[in-house]
Amino acid sequence: MEPLIDFEMADAPMATDRTEGFRFIRQHGEVFQAVDGTWVLASPEAVRFAHRNPLIFSSAKAFSSAGVPVPLIPVAIDPPDHVKYRRVLDRMLAPRVVNGMEDDLRAQIHELVSAFASTGECDAVRDIARLYPTQVFLTLFGMPLADRDQLIGWVETMNENSITGTGEPIPVVREAAMSLFGYIKQHIAEKRADPGDDMLSRILSLTGDEEWSDAEVLGMAFLFTVAGLDTVTGAIGFTMLHLAQNPELRQQLLADPDLIGPVIDEVLRIEPPAPTTPRVTTEDVEVCGVLIPANSAVMLCLATANRGDEREHPDDVDVEHVKEGHFSFGGGIHRCLGAHLARREIRLVIEEFHRLIPDYEVTPGAEPSVVWPSSTLHLASLPLTFPPAGATS
Ligand code: HEM
Repeated sequence: MEPLIDFEMADAPMATDRTEGFRFIRQHGEVFQAVDGTWVLASPEAVRFAHRNPLIFSSAKAFSSAGVPVPLIPVAIDPPDHVKYRRVLDRMLAPRVVNGMEDDLRAQIHELVSAFASTGECDAVRDIARLYPTQVFLTLFGMPLADRDQLIGWVETMNENSITGTGEPIPVVREAAMSLFGYIKQHIAEKRADPGDDMLSRILSLTGDEEWSDAEVLGMAFLFTVAGLDTVTGAIGFTMLHLAQNPELRQQLLADPDLIGPVIDEVLRIEPPAPTTPRVTTEDVEVCGVLIPANSAVMLCLATANRGDEREHPDDVDVEHVKEGHFSFGGGIHRCLGAHLARREIRLVIEEFHRLIPDYEVTPGAEPSVVWPSSTLHLASLPLTFPPAGATS
């Protein structure tokens, strides 16, 4: 028997310095059991092993406690059924589809940035990172942009009040979730009757073996709001924070726009918006020399795995040595379905921000910090100061 480690994720010092927070987790070893009984897989080898063995590390069992009345498709589906959903969803979010949305999405972020560009200041979280991912989701699903703030309200209420969920959700979370379900249900009914040219309509139009029930569509759409909004909010905030704090990197990027891909992936590597993902073991299994019994709750720590390779400076953004293959989008069969779209959203934000505001800094005196404990990592606010666009000096 391995000893229990006196460790709680909530105690990790994340607020202003994730490097310290992730070291706090990793110091306990590659694989260890925390006092609450959860096993933590913290090294790249351990996380990779779990990703490669989805039948031993079950997602279905892990997400069954989420208190949601419909299946979270496809994240809570184990093999063999998982592949039938992914086959459909992968083609709905292929790079070709994301390319087709680009002009519309670029115009939307341009409008958001234009709203404050001449003022000389903004809060990049409040004015961009909170708003834009929800607009993208509404665009993808063919739902009205006017509903943005209502949707953000429900999703934030759920995220802020539910820490990776065991037990019954508190009433305010249940209420927000029910409102969101009602909203999505109404659009499912409308689009069944009158399909449009959007992802939701395309899924509802599937026929034969591929046809989905309303409960399946609802579970998928609900998962998209949980998986694809807060995470992108986090990623946009962190990318802007690193660029604001590092004028040299920003200059490099302005001189060579192709660096945007490496910048995005390096920031995702060191600041993963989804730092952990849950699993439950279905049998006794040995990971990196440690025996984990069947039916154990396991947490894959993507954040520490990202900093565990043999790079010289794993804690720094290093665009010269980008390696494909960080864990921030997960891995194996459940690898993030929205990775192309998420990268595109972040790129469009940075390109349109730099078009109007190439020179900016974190507002002196502000200390951007993350909300913690939380199932996702994102900045609470990011005040920026810059020369007003259009002003003559
Ligand atoms: C930077 C932003 C994002 C990050 C960091 C992120 C991270 C992740 C991670 C770590 C997983 C694996 C979960 C697991 O193994 O249990 C995942 C899965 C998933 N993500 Fe993302 N995600 C992001 C954006 C998005 C977006 C924009 C969408 C939707 C448009 C999305 C939809 C999904 C879905 C549907 C899954 C489940 C895939 C499956 O189970 O096969 N994600 N994401």
